[in-house]
Amino acid sequence: MAVTTHQLVNFKKEGRPIVVLTAWDYLFAKIIDDAGVDLVLVGDSMAMVALGYETTLPITLDEILHHAKAVRRGVKNALLVVDLPFLTYQESPQQAMHSAGRVLKETGAQAVKLEGGYPEMVETVERLVRGGIPVMAHVGLTPQSVHQFGGFRKQGTTAEASDRILQEAIALEQAGAFAIVLEYIPHDLAMTISQKLTIPTIGIGAGPHCDGQVLVTADMLGLSAWSPRFAKAYANLRAATTEAVQNFAADVRSRQFPPEK
Ligand code: KIV
Repeated sequence: MAVTTHQLVNFKKEGRPIVVLTAWDYLFAKIIDDAGVDLVLVGDSMAMVALGYETTLPITLDEILHHAKAVRRGVKNALLVVDLPFLTYQESPQQAMHSAGRVLKETGAQAVKLEGGYPEMVETVERLVRGGIPVMAHVGLTPQSVHQFGGFRKQGTTAEASDRILQEAIALEQAGAFAIVLEYIPHDLAMTISQKLTIPTIGIGAGPHCDGQVLVTADMLGLSAWSPRFAKAYANLRAATTEAVQNFAADVRSRQFPPEK
């Protein structure tokens, strides 16, 4: 039986940390799911990591749907959540309903994630939840607002900004979000939010006090050419891949591959 949004809330009550990784294709989705993560996120970070865009802004809903369908074929046990891309939900709750509806109908994912807080996204989350669509919220460094922030900068570093993020998190929980990503905010703020909310907080660059942690899989595997300071690589697949390619090229050029027999 696949993990449900309700189980994630129970994991928090039980004090069981929630494990989240991103995926954008069948190959990695199946490896990650078979390895036992709780939630697989088809994150729009794929725009930068897998598709080579400079920000997450250019990726379209059709592109995300294409990748999410491939991920769905690989994920059997984890909860599958798909990011709504930039400008597919910000215009109005109706636009969000249409985009999120396409995600659930066309990919078979169980939930969507969207970025932002008070007041617009609170109304949008309420609308989606009323329409039967589970929503994961995302506050702090929300990469779709990178130009407004002037770069991928830590958020919530002043008392005023910190209080705003806290109020947004509370309002998003009240609107019906089943979980919330806290990205690149001070650890003490993430701890306060995690203590105040009953829904789980999933941290990235937000310290150890969140109810779960997410990393971009390419960063976690040491595949990315660049990764944020707060990411941790558990392997060095970029170096291993480069070495394998160089060994193959050398064998082909010296006619050692394929062998006679
Ligand atoms: O797009 C993404 O991968 C994300 C995670 C980093 C939370 O939003």
